[in-house]
Amino acid sequence: MNMSDILANKVVVVTGASSGIGRAIAIRAAEHGARAVIVSDVTEAPREGGEPTAAVIEALGVTARFVKADVSKRTDNDALVAAAEDLGGVDVFVANAGITLRTDGADVPEEDYRRLMSVNLDGPLFGAQAAARSMKAKGKAGSIVLMASMGGLVGAGITVAYSTSKGGVVLMAKSLADALGPDGIRVNAVAPGTIDTELLRTAAGIAEASEGFRKRTPLRRLGQPSEIGDAVAYLGSDLSSYVTGHALTVDGGLLAVI
Ligand SMILES: NC(=O)c1ccc[n+]([C@@H]2O[C@H](COP(=O)([O-])OP(=O)(O)OC[C@H]3O[C@@H](n4cnc5c(N)ncnc54)[C@H](O)[C@@H]3O)[C@@H](O)[C@H]2O)c1
Repeated sequence: MNMSDILANKVVVVTGASSGIGRAIAIRAAEHGARAVIVSDVTEAPREGGEPTAAVIEALGVTARFVKADVSKRTDNDALVAAAEDLGGVDVFVANAGITLRTDGADVPEEDYRRLMSVNLDGPLFGAQAAARSMKAKGKAGSIVLMASMGGLVGAGITVAYSTSKGGVVLMAKSLADALGPDGIRVNAVAPGTIDTELLRTAAGIAEASEGFRKRTPLRRLGQPSEIGDAVAYLGSDLSSYVTGHALTVDGGLLAVI
């Protein structure tokens, strides 16, 4: 179903798009009229799968391809952005890939901490750098969307490393917005609340905490990945042409009352 054409003529690249929120962002981009969507992930089939996600998008009549990329590697981000060149170049780059740790907390082990930072913090920076270079070279007024979290706006003892990384993502969006604004490139962050994905079930303590969050959320339910997809579609589209350096919470109102 075509929900709108707010992304008409846009080439959208989404990292971590084989599952959960990233998959929904990629599919929603197609439903909001994108011309082409690149579905990217570190492995082809962690959960729902990269190729099947690209197939869903193709079935909507939108050009799609799966590109394998590990966002923690600069060269993979460069290759990912290069994969959009023959489609006309990236217009909307969504740095969505992110991980949580079972070992998070005050005593998070060094190796796990560094692995998390390499995905959650290095990944968005390398991706945004590659996307911005391509946009600048083509004179595109592109949009870069970084996936933060409500955990990047308020602290939590069970997610010391995760929250630190996501807080960094929020300031990365604001700083890149300043650096790239003169070139017409917008950079924003999305800060989801509790969204119903595998991540909720795999992170230490989050599954238990999420039921408490649900009860405290004004809308009294978890969010759906497609609801983050719609927020990203807005930030990727020209409807948000004067919005940059913003962290958009999509949390059912939780941070308004917590
Ligand atoms: N689910 C929530 O409640 C929630 C809340 C706030 C923020 N987020 C953020 O949303 C994003 C998506 O999370 P999700 O809930 O869909 O989880 P998810 O685990 O379903 O999706 C994360 C995706 O990132 C991919 N990935 C992991 N390491 C990668 C790497 N090195 N390179 C490329 N891809 C990699 C995984 O394969 C997976 O497909 C994450 O950044 C997460 O921190 C989620």
